[in-house]
Amino acid sequence: MKIKRIVLVTGGCGFIGANFIRLLNHRYPQWRIINLDKLTYAGNLQNLAGIEEGENYRFIRGDICDSERIAEIFTEEKINTVVHFAAESHVDRSITGPADFITTNIIGTFTLLENARKSWVERNSADGNPLFLHVSTDEVYGSLGETGLFTETTAYDPRSPYSASKASSDHLVNAYYHTYGLPVMITNCSNNYGPYQFPEKLIPLVLHNGLHGRELPVYGDGKNIRDWLYVEDHCEAIAAVIENGKIGNCYNIGGNNEKKNIDVVEIICDTLDEKLGLLPSKAARRSLITYVTDRLGHDRRYAIDARKIAEQIGWQPRISFEKGIRMTIDWYLDHQQWVEGVVDGSYREYYQEMYGNRQKIGK
Ligand code: NAD
Ligand code: TYD
Repeated sequence: MKIKRIVLVTGGCGFIGANFIRLLNHRYPQWRIINLDKLTYAGNLQNLAGIEEGENYRFIRGDICDSERIAEIFTEEKINTVVHFAAESHVDRSITGPADFITTNIIGTFTLLENARKSWVERNSADGNPLFLHVSTDEVYGSLGETGLFTETTAYDPRSPYSASKASSDHLVNAYYHTYGLPVMITNCSNNYGPYQFPEKLIPLVLHNGLHGRELPVYGDGKNIRDWLYVEDHCEAIAAVIENGKIGNCYNIGGNNEKKNIDVVEIICDTLDEKLGLLPSKAARRSLITYVTDRLGHDRRYAIDARKIAEQIGWQPRISFEKGIRMTIDWYLDHQQWVEGVVDGSYREYYQEMYGNRQKIGK
């Protein structure tokens, strides 16, 4: 089969990256995917179980900050598309330890951009129709009041070390477009949920704790608002942007699903009660909700105006929150081994089992 695109997906063993590779693998048999992932605590090879290595897929364990290795991959694989997910992604971790966020999100993105520039711009796009798509977040726009939506022209106003590092990487991506003519696009997406999300984020954490009858920590007054998008819808949007987006543009992606955190937590509690029955104490799971000290600098509200991607590319979210949350709960209930493996740390052993004796391949 003739391969039409050779896509370097960074961070493909994380939550969104793995869902995206699953979509590409199924949808585009003429694309070859090179998954470059450092396998930090958030990277889990089991997220890609069933995706076979071969003409369409290769996994490389590596760091996006390792310029020499990236240069080799660009040359060896003749990469013509980069879809850049790899990042430190959890706001709470960025508050307690920002250093990794600066290194991976800023220096790592810079390292990828430099190698793409050397490979594509200096060689006059020798590898054909190249594209560098940077997957970013709506958190770069800061926090909204009770009204208004983030558009693509909203001024950047990041307020956590995580969002500041993502804003910084967005600026670098734009700078490489304007300065060197690197063919870039940026997507800024709202909060995702769905299968394979690491149980440190609100929805899988509440699901896991609710299942085991443990406390459900709600920060502050629980009235902070997020605009939730089912991960498959996000992956569809990225694929649509690759196919039909305009170079140099950014696209906001959102779900039109604004919810207060407390409402999300209560929906999960009620659905678990309905599916599994009440707790052994006969109490409903809402009794586990515990208001805890607020996150430092906690952004109040995020909400996306996704008209540009709808009008120019024709993408719209397909899965309502009511449907998506039930699908997510069912997935976690059906994949309790996956969750337990993440929580007890045994998922870390999977790399050794699968790739332990092939570390030298490619280098
Ligand atoms: P995640 O934390 O689940 O996964 C991150 C992946 O990147 C992991 O597999 C990890 O091993 C890998 N990685 C980390 N540092 C690396 C490095 N130095 N070199 C190579 N690989 C490295 O993250 P996610 O939730 O899947 O988010 C993916 C991207 O989407 C991020 O860039 C994030 O900013 C963005 N995003 C996330 C959301 C969301 O709700 N999760 C929303 C909008 C945008
Ligand atoms: P999170 O899933 O960490 O995503 P983000 O910070 O990127 O939006 O958090 C979603 C919302 O839920 C956010 O307002 C913080 C809140 N939250 C809690 O109330 N309790 C928790 O245990 C967590 C992890 C988050």
